[in-house]
Amino acid sequence: MKYDIKNLTLDEKIQLLTGKNYWQTNDANGKLPSIWLADGPLGLRMANPDGTTKQSTAMPSSVVIANSWNTENARLQGETIADECIQEGADVLLAPGVNMKRTPLCGRNFEYYSEDPILAGYMAKAFIEGVQSKGIGTSLKHFYANNREYDRFVQSSDLDERTAYEIYLPAFEIAVQAQPWTVMCAYNPINGVWASENKQALTDILCGEFGFTGLVMSDWEAVRSGWRAAKAGLDLRMPFNPNEYGEVKTAYEKGWITEEEIDICVQRLLDLIEKTENDKKIITTTKEQRHQNAVKIAEDGIVLLKNEGILPLTEGDLLVCGPFAKAPAFGGGSARAQSDYIPKHLAVELVSASDGKIKADEQCGYFAFRSATSCDFMTDGFTVARKKDAVVLCLGTGFPIEGEHGDRTSIRLTELQEDIILGMAKYNENIVVVLESGSAVDVSPWIDKVKAVVWAGFPGEGGQEAIARVLTGKVCPSGKTSETFPIRLEDTPTGETRGNGFYESYNEGVFMGYRWYDKMQKQVAFPFGFGLSYASFEYSDLKIEKKGELDYEVSYLIKNTSAVDGAEVSQVYVGDIFCRVPRPEKELKGWAKTYLKAGESKRVCIKLNERAFAFYSTALKKWHVESGEFIIQVGASSREIRLSQSIELCLPYDEQYSTLSREIYE
Ligand code: BGC
Repeated sequence: MKYDIKNLTLDEKIQLLTGKNYWQTNDANGKLPSIWLADGPLGLRMANPDGTTKQSTAMPSSVVIANSWNTENARLQGETIADECIQEGADVLLAPGVNMKRTPLCGRNFEYYSEDPILAGYMAKAFIEGVQSKGIGTSLKHFYANNREYDRFVQSSDLDERTAYEIYLPAFEIAVQAQPWTVMCAYNPINGVWASENKQALTDILCGEFGFTGLVMSDWEAVRSGWRAAKAGLDLRMPFNPNEYGEVKTAYEKGWITEEEIDICVQRLLDLIEKTENDKKIITTTKEQRHQNAVKIAEDGIVLLKNEGILPLTEGDLLVCGPFAKAPAFGGGSARAQSDYIPKHLAVELVSASDGKIKADEQCGYFAFRSATSCDFMTDGFTVARKKDAVVLCLGTGFPIEGEHGDRTSIRLTELQEDIILGMAKYNENIVVVLESGSAVDVSPWIDKVKAVVWAGFPGEGGQEAIARVLTGKVCPSGKTSETFPIRLEDTPTGETRGNGFYESYNEGVFMGYRWYDKMQKQVAFPFGFGLSYASFEYSDLKIEKKGELDYEVSYLIKNTSAVDGAEVSQVYVGDIFCRVPRPEKELKGWAKTYLKAGESKRVCIKLNERAFAFYSTALKKWHVESGEFIIQVGASSREIRLSQSIELCLPYDEQYSTLSREIYE
């Protein structure tokens, strides 16, 4: 071991429990290197010595990656950002964020992956593998139950044990399989105890049950009491806190914390420092390649929500306008990378992607609507629209509507944007909406007035190129929603409520996201897992083979029945037909994204194991499978089940609790 804890004095060890400054760890009076921490999941956000932010590639937001349902994109995103970390000297990237999208209002949803824990977990795992394969560490965040920005420093997330295990913890559990070098705790208390001081969360669950072996750091300013946090399993308080030394020293003198407990934290920091000194840090991409990676990921994650025969756009004279025609939308906060890439107007990209067959005057784009909240020359825009073959309207949210430190108050577009769509539709019946938002939007006021909608999330600096290639058919859209689009905010489990400032009760329990809409039998605008394509796919020949007591292999054929090459995201859901605890009607247990040439067929194979059938039993304090009938459903979305079959699970009699009033021995 290069850095031996024995060489450090108690005072130096206490100093190591907080940073040296805002972004670096302490150096124990020069005995250790200070390592650099930097945000974030959508591109490197690292401070220059003068406090400004370094330039980096603005990658697509996590919502786009999840919408691609392709873990290779998460891996590529990780590798790409890692190259910039190597270039700039960042040792640990403060990403990925894997919190559940419990409400579409959450201001940071664009940084998170999904309302489904498994989809989010596997995306995060691949991202971590991508970054760490290049010798750069990650920080899986924010552990846990950090699901909105409102009063995020204070409000407790109050949730029952089963809900925690089934919905809010599994994404972390899956991602921890990749052994991120660090985990970042959340700001919020969990059931009244700060996440930073929550021993049950940080030590018992994260390290004990999930097997995490790295360092736990705080979110920035999330620690209230340094010694309590250290005792609970929080190794590093960030950023530098001037009170930390005094607090911990006093607690030590009073016998509230022992040197052994301090040593546990310090040893984890020493281990982390050693990990950062490796020979894997080799940059393998150029700036241009990183930009191309951003475009590629965005292309794969764009979701076609509606298409009444107007897309792909292959020719014609278009008006391309709206606040995000000139440059894509970005969310705000710590995940905002500063890119020096200057995007071309979407009109220009459409002309180029169509090899000049589309005519789209760049000027038209500029003069219509300059921002999400102010509108110039609206009337002129309408007049031009009358003369065009179609109108591409680039609308959505972006910062300040979506960003860290605040939640949306509505999931509708601004009144002005809705007016633009409705007004424009009176002058031109061929409206294509490009929607840029980090989470679901209420499309009900205008969806019937437009011919097509694509959801591009926050697509990153390559957004205009990616969108143009999808709209023109150069790329066949293959994204699917990683969250439900409810019809109205009132339909969501939380509606407009947001807690009382002290606590928020997760009353819907395990019925979050599509699990909620299924239980309430609610119509939705676009279900979880939904996305159209220019190709069409047929599902057939479902086979379910038993491979072990609770191991099954589900396989089926997917055929591209169209003349267009494309990709289909097929999803496997499992439902417990009868259980003595309430369970969701169906839950995602596996998926595949299958790229198919026109006319091509492939057999998809998804493996199911014990966890696919289990619920978390609070009575038994473990995952438990009840014998009985389960339904396996293969869907093109959570509401479009193409194939299904029931299986009967007969588990050993002595592993089940009794189901009858009198035991029957056969
Ligand atoms: C955010 C973290 C981020 C940190 C450092 C906090 O406010 O919640 O996600 O990594 O700041 O910028």
